[in-house]
Amino acid sequence: MAKQYDLVIIGAGPGGYTAAIRAAEFGMRTAVIEERELGGVCINRGCIPTKALLYASHIFSLMQSSDQFGIFTDQISFDYGKMQNYKEKSVKACRDGIQQSFDKLGIDLIRGRGILRRDRTVEVHGEDGLEFYQGKYVILAAGAKAFIPPIPGANLPGVVTSDRILNEGDWNYGRVVIIGGGVIGVEMASIFHNLCSQVTIVEKNDHLLGPMDRKVAGELEHSLRSRGIGIYCGAQCEQIEEGKSGLICRIRTADGQMVEQPAGTVLIAVGRKPAPEKLFGEDAKLRIEEGRLWTDENFQTSQEGVYAIGDLTAKTQLAHVAAAQGVFVVEALAGKPHTIRLEVVPNGMFVRLPIVPNCIYTNPEIATVGITEEAAKKLGMHVRTGYYSMNDNGKSIITRTDGGFICLVFEAYSNTIVGAQMICPRATDMIGEMATAVANGLTAEQLSYAMRAHPTYSEGIQAAINDALGKC
Ligand code: NAI
Repeated sequence: MAKQYDLVIIGAGPGGYTAAIRAAEFGMRTAVIEERELGGVCINRGCIPTKALLYASHIFSLMQSSDQFGIFTDQISFDYGKMQNYKEKSVKACRDGIQQSFDKLGIDLIRGRGILRRDRTVEVHGEDGLEFYQGKYVILAAGAKAFIPPIPGANLPGVVTSDRILNEGDWNYGRVVIIGGGVIGVEMASIFHNLCSQVTIVEKNDHLLGPMDRKVAGELEHSLRSRGIGIYCGAQCEQIEEGKSGLICRIRTADGQMVEQPAGTVLIAVGRKPAPEKLFGEDAKLRIEEGRLWTDENFQTSQEGVYAIGDLTAKTQLAHVAAAQGVFVVEALAGKPHTIRLEVVPNGMFVRLPIVPNCIYTNPEIATVGITEEAAKKLGMHVRTGYYSMNDNGKSIITRTDGGFICLVFEAYSNTIVGAQMICPRATDMIGEMATAVANGLTAEQLSYAMRAHPTYSEGIQAAINDALGKC
């Protein structure tokens, strides 16, 4: 006999645990099934550990040039094992916080592998054998896994994905080749470059960061190259071999030449893919489209009462997107008004804009929301932009930060903000203001009502608004 719940969720990542917490707050009896650690990839093998290592490695990097601030140190070194301990403590603190919320709200966390069967029943293969849980509703939030392309030698020791590279304590990162110049590729390149590794990125597109605004991606590429990171764009790693003192990557460059790049570690970061077919049994077949679970606009799958959220189904694989989708679904199931607007139609324009901030935690940071000038023009919108080079910003001068810019995109007739792109320090924090502005259709004039403190990086936002308004 299956145990009965209002809501059964498979997967305890940001989508699953956020949905569970909100459902329990609404009084729904909720169970979450998870085969690994609470928190999913984000907490355990993704966002939190990467950002912890980015922070630690950035401190080390700053210390190397501390003389420009009048600070002199005789010896600077790092202990990668201790850095890992610090990272693990950050991960554990986040995981414990979720566990406390589960305990407080009476959410049942069931350990084991869950498979959806008919009538919204989930079969769990766990420590106590086979058990069944039935929900009035089921949410599938099982995430995605790192994709490994068929490169000969990709299975050699020393060739890893981001899941493993973040959890290895031994230092074998003197020379790192990163296959894939996407988000994981550039963030990991920053970590290892900060720690003085020789880093090479191999990207098959002719530019880094695929769908990112070209001006922003170009600025980051320039910054990475100027710091000595090797970047091959329009290139393919055709083979990885074992050499005399480590691995050798055979790279076909954009102009057709073959280059041999030695490496202690090769990181494969060419995207993450879901495996929806492993989530349900013969009696609960769900529709799959382009390798993802199909859902309608309310995230309901082809089976009534069964929903899917997060990387399993979303084209935008971000923790906050999964969490927002989870809240959206649960609010609807509980008959509550929506607190999250996933899309907005700006003043008078019949264009839907996803209000999803997109952040990359490199140095300098990148953050975007809404649409770019180029995308707006393709949609036939008339836009005006406000641009500000952060070289002139007082805080950037104090912190000795070179380069970077803020670009704001306004609909030309109403001056409503429809997008923002930033590459500068603290961009990932400042984008929150712009997301609120885009979500609420604020105009350039309304954005000017509030002062921005001096000296701050966010004065760059005011300067970009002024530029759009034709002021100095
Ligand atoms: P990605 O899709 O961002 O980038 C993969 C890159 O690999 C692309 O530029 C692609 O052109 C390239 N590529 C594909 N096959 C290749 C090959 N054979 N050789 C060379 N290059 C190849 O995927 P990534 O970086 O693995 O990240 C996975 C997901 O995780 C992304 O959707 C990303 O949004 C998310 N993520 C988000 C973070 C954030 O928000 N800060 C941090 C890390 C990951």
